Amino acid sequence: MTVVGIVPAGGSGERLGADRPKAFVACAGRPLVEWSLDVLEAVCDRVVVAVPAGELRPGWVEGGASRSASVRNALAAAPEATRVVVHDAARPLVTRELVESCLAALIGVDGAIAAVPVVDTIKQAYPDGTVERTLERARLWAVQTPQVFRAEALRRALDVADDVLAGATDDASLVEAAGGSVRLVEAPPENFKVTSAADLARAEAALLC
Ligand code: CTP
Ligand code: MG
Repeated sequence: MTVVGIVPAGGSGERLGADRPKAFVACAGRPLVEWSLDVLEAVCDRVVVAVPAGELRPGWVEGGASRSASVRNALAAAPEATRVVVHDAARPLVTRELVESCLAALIGVDGAIAAVPVVDTIKQAYPDGTVERTLERARLWAVQTPQVFRAEALRRALDVADDVLAGATDDASLVEAAGGSVRLVEAPPENFKVTSAADLARAEAALLC
């Protein structure tokens, strides 16, 4: 079994609004991506990072036009992979334990993904803001990364048109669309995503304590 880690770090970080791509903004004294890289390198045989063209290093690949296109570029550079751990550079508080729990859950399924139970009530609405219905909260989960897959299932799922990749908000949804089975693994709430400047400050505080 060969486990390859993939870190999508090819985004621009528009919502953060920093002077460089989000994955390379300093967070608790080092580029944001390095926190995730440390954890994946401890668990995987090899890690491929997908980055903007100006940030390439040996063994890394250039990102694509969308997050899933970046994952596809990285996976293409890892033909030896039999298991793949995909983890966003934007979630620096990932732990080795969480990655290992996802890998351990990859039995009899194509994917095992980190997720937290939803605490807010979720309503589905029409475009004009009128509520259509209230969803059953007990069955709703907010999905994160790491997302772990059988490499063959992920390769098949990513073998779709660029506009389909661009519409996907995670890789598991592409695996599901290709007929694959995916299991949820409960994650700790601190594995949040850095999107805004406030998130970056929160991540910094958590990493320094
Ligand atoms: N990502 C990527 N390639 C892209 C777009 C995003 O590898 N073309 C990565 C980001 O670098 C990030 C992860 O996917 O690690 C999650 O994306 P997001 O949090 O949306 O980051 P950005 O796209 O960089 O931020 P924004 O949407 O605010 O521009
Ligand atoms: Mg984005």
